[in-house]
Amino acid sequence: TILILDFGSQYSHLITRRCRELNVYAELLACTVKISELGWKPKGIILSGSPYSVYDADAPRVDPAVFDLGVPVLGICYGLQEIASHLGGKVEGHDHREYGHARVQVTQSPVDALFEGLGEELQVWMSHGDQISAPPPGFRVIGKTGTAPFAAIAHEERPIWGIQFHPEVTHTPRGREIIGRFVLNICGAKANWTMESFITKEIARIRELCGPKGRVIGAVSGGVDSTVAAKLMKEAVGDRFHAIMVDNGVLRMNEAKEVREMLSENLGINLTVVDASDRFLTKLSGVEDPETKRKVIGNEFIHVFEAEAKKLAEEEGSKGPVEWLLQGTLYPDVIESVSFRGPSATIKTHHNVGGLLADMKLKLVEPLRELFKDEVRALGRLLGIPDRLVQRHPFPGPGLAIRILGVVTREQVQILQRADDIYISEIRAAGLYDQIAQAFAVLLPVRAVGVMGDKRTYEQVVALRAVTSEDFMTADWFAFPPDVLRKISSRITNEVKGVNRVTYDISSKPPGTVEWL
Ligand code: XMP
Repeated sequence: TILILDFGSQYSHLITRRCRELNVYAELLACTVKISELGWKPKGIILSGSPYSVYDADAPRVDPAVFDLGVPVLGICYGLQEIASHLGGKVEGHDHREYGHARVQVTQSPVDALFEGLGEELQVWMSHGDQISAPPPGFRVIGKTGTAPFAAIAHEERPIWGIQFHPEVTHTPRGREIIGRFVLNICGAKANWTMESFITKEIARIRELCGPKGRVIGAVSGGVDSTVAAKLMKEAVGDRFHAIMVDNGVLRMNEAKEVREMLSENLGINLTVVDASDRFLTKLSGVEDPETKRKVIGNEFIHVFEAEAKKLAEEEGSKGPVEWLLQGTLYPDVIESVSFRGPSATIKTHHNVGGLLADMKLKLVEPLRELFKDEVRALGRLLGIPDRLVQRHPFPGPGLAIRILGVVTREQVQILQRADDIYISEIRAAGLYDQIAQAFAVLLPVRAVGVMGDKRTYEQVVALRAVTSEDFMTADWFAFPPDVLRKISSRITNEVKGVNRVTYDISSKPPGTVEWL
């Protein structure tokens, strides 16, 4: 395992990704972790970048023990400056802030192991204000740029490297190879982390964790994460796993039916579908404020799920007690909570099943907590879940309630379901679904005048949204071929009663968000 210490750079998780793409398992921990408390010995350590300066009063500092562990250490950007400031070099704020593309001249001959076989000049991505003005004693320079004479350094005897640029971003074309030189050649990490090995290990871990008797329950939504988690659980504990799907009345068209077909019929998972749509829609009646909608749905979900879980627990008999709650937590959620800065500012509250079922005292099992989203997709494919589901766009917990601007009624839900269904089917028909990160229709609470046949109409407006995005922190609108939009618009206005106008949202995030609420 490679240990990556996170000093808060927006790119930290990418370092983890790059290692795993090399089939090397890497773990990202907060930079404040104490090496003596780690409990395992990494094959190598990477220090990430950071928004801080090493001479800021509140700058995060690494445990100096990382340099005495005897395993290779690579500092990236801030990580390099940490190395310099711990080992007696000099770091200075620089009037020439370097941000963007740069060329690193590989200066050492013979070439240092970090850059072996990568040529004499490397295109790299820089993003820093500080830089080293004097390397610490015992270090040699292995790369420089026009403005940074110490862009890459290596210790003469000890296994310590530092680079000013970011090899983890795609703007450094051979960055992946540089990381490979470090983790494979220098650290000697084994490239044996594969999804197949993950499945075998994870199933064994779940069996061990959950023991031979207790039952496991978990909520499923029809989304990728909960479906993959459920299938993995089924593989691990068989019929002792029971999935619960809550129909909250604001799902996509035919969602409950499709989930039943997929989970219960195709994947053979025990499933209860609870139709609680009346309950949810009653609680939502008259609510316009988006955050209130989220709260109402989040709370109601807990009540309904809890009642269902209790029913399952009561029918114990030969089936054994319900002891575990399955959660589809992914690695990015885990990273967020390990960061030394704490979670970032909340723009919108996101409802996960957190804090659920406190009085049932269920223990949590989180089989996806080491995985990134696309790894979950790969896992799903290996577990035999059809591509169509594995590639599905994310869908928010509060569902169509946050896509109906204004008051949510059953009638409004039906209008939006029809429009959304046409939109998504046409995107699929045009072969564009996989190029889009998320697409959906939004129903506006305003009416516009139109004409149909010889008659004046006065009906609602549907807005279409489709974005491309890596991680949903930023997003850009998708450039549809005009013919596709034309067909979607014509089908929606012809087939969905109550809608006479369709618009396409061309806002990026920021300043917009992906959802309208
Ligand atoms: P925004 O609108 O914040 O969306 O740019 C980013 C991503 O988060 C999803 N989203 C939610 N997911 N509960 C969820 O489970 C929510 O309340 C929620 N709000 C937004 C959104 O669909 C997008 O993928």
